[in-house]
Amino acid sequence: MRAIEIAEPGGPEVLEWREVPEPRVERGEVLIDVAAAGVNRADVLQRQGFYDPPPGSIPYPGLEVSGVVAEVGADVEQFKAGDEVCALLAGGGYAERVAVPWQQVMPKPGGVSLREAAALPEVACTVWSNVFMIGRLRRGETLLVHGGASGIGTFAVQLAKTLGSNVITTVGSAAKGERVKELGADEIINYREEDFAEKVRADVILDIMGAKYLAGNVKALRTGGRLVIIGLQGGRKAEIDLGALLVKRATVHATALRSRPVDDKGVIVRSVVDNVWPLVEAGAVRPVVYAEVPLSDAAEAHRMMDSGEHVGKILLVR
Ligand SMILES: NC(=O)c1ccc[n+]([C@@H]2O[C@H](COP(=O)([O-])OP(=O)(O)OC[C@H]3O[C@@H](n4cnc5c(N)ncnc54)[C@H](OP(=O)(O)O)[C@@H]3O)[C@@H](O)[C@H]2O)c1
Repeated sequence: MRAIEIAEPGGPEVLEWREVPEPRVERGEVLIDVAAAGVNRADVLQRQGFYDPPPGSIPYPGLEVSGVVAEVGADVEQFKAGDEVCALLAGGGYAERVAVPWQQVMPKPGGVSLREAAALPEVACTVWSNVFMIGRLRRGETLLVHGGASGIGTFAVQLAKTLGSNVITTVGSAAKGERVKELGADEIINYREEDFAEKVRADVILDIMGAKYLAGNVKALRTGGRLVIIGLQGGRKAEIDLGALLVKRATVHATALRSRPVDDKGVIVRSVVDNVWPLVEAGAVRPVVYAEVPLSDAAEAHRMMDSGEHVGKILLVR
C-alpha cells in the first residue's frame, strides 16, 4: 500500500507518497481502509522533527482517520468488515490502510459523511476528556478556549455552548472571530489587540499556549477554577504563582492524548461515543472542515496549516 513518509525533518516538501509494507492485523486490532485522515498541529511538529511517535507506533504521521473496516483480528467482537468507522491513532493515519486497537475505534456518527468523520476523533476525544472529564465544566459555568478557530477550538466552542456554558475564546483576527461567533462563542478576544487576562474570568480554561499564557491563565481563573493545558505553542517552562492558585483553590492540569495507554484511550473513546456522538447526530455539534486535499498531496495540506489561515480542520482524502 502507499502512505506518506517523512523523508527527513523539514518543511512540507519532506512529506513523500511512497510504497510501504501492508499493515498486519494483530489480535485485538481493526484494519481500516482509510477514506480520510485529519491533519493536526502535532503532525506538523512530527514533520519538523520535534515530536516523535510513541515507541512502537507507526512512524508515518496521522492521528485520526475515517474509513471502512476491511478486516478484524482475533478477539474483536465490537466491529466487523464493512462497518463505517473513525478512529484515534498513535500514528500512521496518512495511509491507505491502518491497523488500530479496537478500543480506539468508534462507529461513524450519523448525520456526517464518511470523510467528515475523520475531522472528529482528535477534537472530540481531546475536548471531551480535557474540558468535561478533567475540567468538569458544568452548565452555567464559563469556559475560556484559547485558539477558538483551531481544529480543537471550533469543536470546544460548539460542545461547551451546546452543553449550556458561557464560552469566551481568543483568536488572531477579526475574520476568524466572526467565524467562531457563528459557531456559538459568546465573546471573542483578539489576542493581537487585547490581553485576555485583563478581561476574562473563567471557571475552566482550555489552553494551547503553555508557558506564555500561564500567568495570565492563573489570573483569569475564578475561585475553584480549572486550567487544562494541552498545547505548548508558547513554550514549556514558566514560573507559577502558587499563592494565587492557593487563594483561588484552583488546579492546573497538563495532558497529552497520544502517549496514553490503549485502555485509557478506550475509556475516553467510549465516553465520547456515549456523550458526544448523540450531539453530533442531532446536528448540535458539527465537524468544521476547512479544506479537503488528496492524501497523496499531504505536503499541500501542511502548507495550508503552516500558513495559519485555516479555521477548523484540514482533511486528507482518498
Ligand atoms: N494534548 C493533547 O492531547 C492535544 C490533542 C490535540 C491537540 N492539541 C494541541 O491543541 C492545539 C490546537 O491543535 P490543532 O490541531 O487544532 O491546531 P491548529 O488548527 O493549527 O490551531 C492552532 C491555533 O493556535 C492559535 N494561536 C496561535 N497563537 C496564539 C496566541 N498567542 N493566543 C491564542 N491562540 C493562538 C491559532 O489562532 P489563530 O489562527 O486565530 O491565530 C490557531 O487557532 C495545538 O497546540 C495542539 O498541539 C493537544
